[in-house]
Amino acid sequence: MRASVLLIAAVVAVTSAGLVARTLARVGVHQGYAPEQPIAFSHKLHAGDSKVPCLYCHSSARTSRHAGIPSVNVCMNCHSMLTKQTVDIERLKEAVQRRQPIVWTKVHNLPDFVYFNHSQHVGANVACQSCHGPVETMARVRQEAPLTMGWCLDCHRTRGAELQRSRMAWAHADPNAPLPVTDCGKCHY
Ligand code: HEC
Ligand code: HEC
Ligand code: HEC
Ligand code: HEC
Ligand code: HEC
Repeated sequence: MRASVLLIAAVVAVTSAGLVARTLARVGVHQGYAPEQPIAFSHKLHAGDSKVPCLYCHSSARTSRHAGIPSVNVCMNCHSMLTKQTVDIERLKEAVQRRQPIVWTKVHNLPDFVYFNHSQHVGANVACQSCHGPVETMARVRQEAPLTMGWCLDCHRTRGAELQRSRMAWAHADPNAPLPVTDCGKCHY
């Protein structure tokens, strides 16, 4: 009797330690996160079916750190002419009339101690989809990549040759400098 109680206690202890370890290892990883938005904006409809280019709405991705979320004025470039009415389009027009920005819920969040810059990647012809997945098929955006350090480094390693070439092209760059792969200071400072 006492032996079986002990055995059960041991099994419970081992299982929960395993669960805790597994949960801790995933703390901060939000792969698959797809929050509901204040307006049901569909990338499938806009970027997929209607083929609006990503950079039409996220133009700062080419030149700056952040890709940015378009203001309602960009939406109204089309919706002031389109006649279709839905509850969500009504919400958009209400926000415009009240001059209120739409408060979108951010999907991707890197910790503050990491430096990530869109222009360094978009300028090097890394496709949006290699980091964000097939956004043009998503009715609601979800985080496709784990956004972990290992994920960043995996790509930097596989595209190392490409990295080295683009560095050599910079007049001031030292071709023998370590690749960003090993250079902690490129992502943490
Ligand atoms: C018509 C404008 C428009 C186009 C075109 C568009 N987007 Fe967006 N995008 C938005 C808006 C508005 C949001 C914020 C609401 C949301 O998350 O759905 C957003 C959000 C996102 C997010 C999530 C940002 C976060 O919060 O972390 C990603 C990633 C994204 N877009 C990528 C893309 C990609 C890739 C394309 C091209 C395949 C694209 N977008 C085309 C308007 C657009
Ligand atoms: C090399 C990977 C990578 C590429 C390529 C990339 N993104 Fe991102 N994107 C990220 C990461 C990482 C974040 C989260 C950044 C943060 O939290 O500071 C992000 C965040 C975003 C956001 C949220 C708002 C912002 O600016 O932080 C939008 C919108 C977005 N990306 C759109 C795009 C679009 C559109 C493209 C292509 C033109 C693109 N991204 C290319 C990795 C990438
Ligand atoms: C390049 C033109 C264009 C831009 C820019 C644009 N839309 Fe649209 N949107 C459309 C088209 C086309 C439809 C399909 C409905 C129609 O034919 O009138 C649509 C439909 C919608 C719908 C209704 C979806 C449904 O369920 O039928 C919503 C909501 C919407 N858009 C929100 C937005 C928001 C928010 C923005 C700005 C971030 C935006 N749109 C920017 C062209 C655009
Ligand atoms: C290509 C970009 C990149 C490089 C290079 C890089 N890191 Fe990171 N690092 C990240 C990202 C993204 C995160 C946050 C996500 C995560 O914790 O996996 C992170 C997280 C960390 C953390 C926190 C881990 C945790 O569990 O919270 C430490 C410590 C760290 N990095 C140290 C280093 C050191 C030391 C180096 C050099 C050997 C390095 N990093 C190089 C991108 C990078
Ligand atoms: C899909 C591939 C891919 C992923 C994923 C990726 N990168 Fe990069 N990254 C590149 C390429 C390619 C370059 C080279 C750009 C150049 O030098 O022209 C680059 C360059 C950089 C640079 C500039 C390096 C330098 O020498 O100036 C930094 C910083 C950087 N990445 C950070 C990150 C961080 C942080 C993450 C993860 C959150 C990440 N990258 C994820 C492909 C990627």
